[in-house]
Amino acid sequence: MINLAILISGRGSNMKAILNFAATKKIITPTVVISNNYDAAGIKIASKFGIDTIIIPNIKDRRIYDKKLEKVLLKYNITPKNGLICLAGFMRILGADLTKKYKNRIMNIHPSLLPAFAGLNAQKQAIEYGAKYSGCTIHFVDAGIDTGPIILQAMVKIKDNDNHISLAKKILRKEHQLYPKAINLFATKKLIIDGKIVKIINHV
Ligand code: GRF
Repeated sequence: MINLAILISGRGSNMKAILNFAATKKIITPTVVISNNYDAAGIKIASKFGIDTIIIPNIKDRRIYDKKLEKVLLKYNITPKNGLICLAGFMRILGADLTKKYKNRIMNIHPSLLPAFAGLNAQKQAIEYGAKYSGCTIHFVDAGIDTGPIILQAMVKIKDNDNHISLAKKILRKEHQLYPKAINLFATKKLIIDGKIVKIINHV
């Protein structure tokens, strides 16, 4: 069984979707929710699920922060061999040491079709660019910003009357479906990773 850590900074709606999935599917064991933000609304949701929550407050030094994070991960038996770390609205960049150690074992969700509109405010970027479609991407995390191997993507249409708020809502609905799917593929060993390319066994 894979041990799962979920890292959040805010609302925690993706975390909730993942925890619901874990409770029904029972192919991964969520052991801890970690946040850099004491006020993250998701902390309360995690507690309702009976999951331990740990706050590691922000500090500037990435190395020191990541070391603290690693210590917590190991304490909860989330190792580079048996662990999966899901970033779900976690507003920090992880450094090269940690992302190398947990290579292809850290996932992130981003609210655009990467590589378009990486970074902050992806939905606003898509609206301002005049894109006709956007969506969300689940990818493995490397040392870059939203640059790791793409696992799954889902698309939404942008209508003329959409703004970044309505687009974010549409995308979020897709996010809640996509993250559990990606975790399921990972846990059932359906992902074949070759450098930047992730292939999915029996994917149609
Ligand atoms: C989502 O839009 C996700 O794509 C982005 O941050 C947001 C987190 O939302 N990385 P929530 O905390 O899961 O509700």
